[in-house]
Formats: sequence, C-alpha cells, structure tokens
Amino acid sequence: MSKTRLSVRGDAREFVLAVGETILDAALEQGLKLDHACGGVCACSTCHVKIKQGRECFSAASEEELDQLDTARDVSLDSRLGCQAKLLRLPTAGAIEIVIPEWNVNAVREGGH
Ligand code: FES
Repeated sequence: MSKTRLSVRGDAREFVLAVGETILDAALEQGLKLDHACGGVCACSTCHVKIKQGRECFSAASEEELDQLDTARDVSLDSRLGCQAKLLRLPTAGAIEIVIPEWNVNAVREGGH
C-alpha cells in the first residue's frame, strides 16, 4: 500500500495522499479547497500549508520554495508550499496532518464567489 490518510484540521472529511504526490495534487483530486494561484509552479505562496504531523515523510524544501515562503503570511517552522511538498515515504504510524492557515481559507472564500 502506497497511500496514507491525510487529515486536514478543521475539515471532517478524510483524504488520502499517495507516495510521489504533492499535497496540492491530493487536494485537487479530492475536492479540498487549497488555493494555487500560480498553478503549482512555486511562483506564489497561496498554497501555504502547515504540516503538523509527518513532516519527515516529505521532500525537503528547495531554495525557491523557501524564498516564496518568505513572502507568505503567518509562516512557521512547519510551513510548506502544498505544491512543492511531495510525499516520499509513508509515516510509520498515524496519518499526515496538515493545517491550511486561516487567512488562506479566507482568501479562498472571498475569491470563491
Ligand atoms: S501554487 Fe503557487 S507556489 Fe504553490
């Protein structure tokens, strides 16, 4: 089995994330609202998420990603760009847990018409 459970804080639904897939890939496939203004090419920071559990299972952030995160609001040590954080291996226990920062959720709602 090459998939794990992806739990999104504040969203009661269950999502899955496969090895080799980014968080944005999984979001788009499963109807999870995650903004992605640049289309997933590391040229904005609207796909900002915080990985609360399972950070060690993801690809390392590139210099480009870190530069983009510098422009994001409310950045912390667990911040990643959803389009760049790719699952490399399954967690040994539990699920991957992420949080979509509240300001990002608001931006999606305001632009959502
Ligand atoms: S969608 Fe633009 S950086 Fe991820």
